[in-house]
Amino acid sequence: MILGTIAAADVVLTSPLAFAQNLDAGKSPERLFADGCATCHRSPRGLAKGRYSLTLSWFLQDHYSAGPDTAKALADYLVSVDTPPPSAPAKSGAKSSRSKPHPPKPVQGQ
Ligand code: HEC
Repeated sequence: MILGTIAAADVVLTSPLAFAQNLDAGKSPERLFADGCATCHRSPRGLAKGRYSLTLSWFLQDHYSAGPDTAKALADYLVSVDTPPPSAPAKSGAKSSRSKPHPPKPVQGQ
């Protein structure tokens, strides 16, 4: 159909990433990141920086012309792999203090 062809051409012209978006349909966010982002961002970790996935997906749509679905998937992914807060590993500390009956001493040289 002519109408369909025009609509498709319009999408391709207005968004340079529209073609990639179609190819991206159904890809896992890990794959999307590896294909489209890893060139510049070596790791997805630390990119979310504690932001909400909604804020992030706006950022991604704005800066990378990702489609809403792709942006949302990537944003959720970035949030899920974001570096945990520094206070998280409290368990290992409890474990090591149990194996050593001495009270914790200040470590020299740190
Ligand atoms: C052409 C290189 C390039 C590609 C490809 C790229 N980015 Fe970026 N990205 C950058 C640069 C440069 C910055 C700015 C870095 C800064 O401000 O510290 C940035 C910033 C970001 C930020 C904000 C980081 C911050 O510190 O606030 C996020 C989130 C992000 N990119 C995600 C992505 C995602 C997801 C993709 C894949 C869809 C992607 N980027 C692809 C170069 C790229």
